Amino acid sequence: MTDLEQLRQDLLGAIDAAAGLDAIEAIRVHALGKQGAVTGLLKTLGAMSPEERQLTGPRIHALREAVTEALSERKEMLERKAMDARLASETLDMTLPVDLVPPGTVHPVSQVMDELAEIFADLGFAVASGPEIEDDWRNFTALNIPETHPARAMHDTFYFPEVEGAEHRMLLRTHTSPVQIRTMMMQKPPIRIIAPGRVYRSDSDATHTPMFHQIEGLVIDKGITLGHLKWTLETFLKAYFERDDIVLRLRPSYFPFTEPGAEVDVGYSVVNGKRVIGGDPSKGNGGWMEVLGSGMVHRKVIEACGLDPDEWQGFAFGTGVDRLAMLKYGMDDLRPFFDGDLRWLRHYGFSALDVPTLSGGVGA
Ligand code: DAH
Repeated sequence: MTDLEQLRQDLLGAIDAAAGLDAIEAIRVHALGKQGAVTGLLKTLGAMSPEERQLTGPRIHALREAVTEALSERKEMLERKAMDARLASETLDMTLPVDLVPPGTVHPVSQVMDELAEIFADLGFAVASGPEIEDDWRNFTALNIPETHPARAMHDTFYFPEVEGAEHRMLLRTHTSPVQIRTMMMQKPPIRIIAPGRVYRSDSDATHTPMFHQIEGLVIDKGITLGHLKWTLETFLKAYFERDDIVLRLRPSYFPFTEPGAEVDVGYSVVNGKRVIGGDPSKGNGGWMEVLGSGMVHRKVIEACGLDPDEWQGFAFGTGVDRLAMLKYGMDDLRPFFDGDLRWLRHYGFSALDVPTLSGGVGA
């Protein structure tokens, strides 16, 4: 009896002191394994007299049960401790701000183009593109600017040397409008695209550089009206300038590829001596600023692309991306945009983590 009690105390004590899962397993083998101490006791039952067995049997079985239970409790406890330690050492707080700052900054032109793509994607516009080396048919003729048209002279075009026998004269595109032609010739309406990109004109001062950026918009569908144009531009400018109090004024104007054509002015107000887009243009020193060219796509342009203008109508608009950036982020000289001066880029650039989203406010 005392042997049994001693064994029980030894085993339970050892289990209690077991520091790891390996130790637990060793005790289990030592007590309950094939050659184990408790197993050995169970084997003695067969040789006992019935009286002795009746007396000793339950004690040996109770010992086995107590040891089994103590082992599994200790094991569970050690496993929990191991898991807690792992959880404590392997924590990863996903809510912490990233402490790694990506090198360099995103140029304001790239940032604004991303903002525009985000805004127009939400309105169902795809992004289209065309080559910067364009031919004079797509840059001018198909846009209803024939060779003798004065608008050709107004574009200060960089031409490539004439090639004998070539059908078209090549040039650096003077605007993104040829992407209208490429899109209408390549895909079936309905069409809803924007086309941001580089354009070139022989022109240079504080607000003009020989290379600059434009964005074109084109919608071709059935039953499109000036109302659709105005709503689209209003929605776009409100999202871009992140203000609801944006007012537009469509001023009749002339672009060969539109009929009717309109220049779009946006109302500004003056805050602390500075012009800001939005607010009441009729109050204080407020006024109107031209921001876009636009209009209903001319029948001749739709025809030039092989579409029936009696079936398909649409609107188009175009504006300067650099200018939009200047108006929103407060630069007053265009030239440093393209100087590559790190001080300017650090000041006006955006973090690569600053991805424009509508929910975050586009400029976030
Ligand atoms: N292509 C014109 C320019 O460079 C801008 C423009 C005006 C584009 C009216 C358009 C439009 O699509 O409808 O000055």
